[in-house]
Amino acid sequence: MIRILFVCLGNICRSPMAEFVFRDMAEKRGLGGQTAAASAATSSYEAGNPVYPPAAALLRRQGLDPAGKRSVPLTQADGAAYDHIIGMDAANLRDIRRILGPGARARVSRLLDWTARPGDVADPWYTGDFETTWNDVSAGCEALLNALFPENEKM
Ligand code: 4NP
Repeated sequence: MIRILFVCLGNICRSPMAEFVFRDMAEKRGLGGQTAAASAATSSYEAGNPVYPPAAALLRRQGLDPAGKRSVPLTQADGAAYDHIIGMDAANLRDIRRILGPGARARVSRLLDWTARPGDVADPWYTGDFETTWNDVSAGCEALLNALFPENEKM
């Protein structure tokens, strides 16, 4: 079982999108039993809040239902509980490493660094552009799955 925690600033836009997209892609490849995905925030700004309505609407248009998801803060214990902790931008990576502290078991990376065009997933909370975020998150999750399960790579 590979345990993956997606992380962003608020855990109401980007990282929940990644959590639900990744789980769906893994299930469609028959890898649902070999992976577990969740998401968390580097802040407590939105703790307890549901997925931001425009992000939730986008997920529902894609057939995914994030109804039960609530924002939860990343904790030091997550560094031991997960194999991969995957941030959306460079600020997330700094915050993740600060929260986990030294010696965390999890590998920390940035989502789009798994793709052929490394970089940040723009925050739609600020940009208002949920479609670009959706495309980036989907590309990142696809590349991540290909890297984790190369024998299963979708052509
Ligand atoms: P996210 O977007 O990190 O993609 O969930 C944000 C949501 C809320 C806030 C910041 C970013 N906020 O400051 O409340």
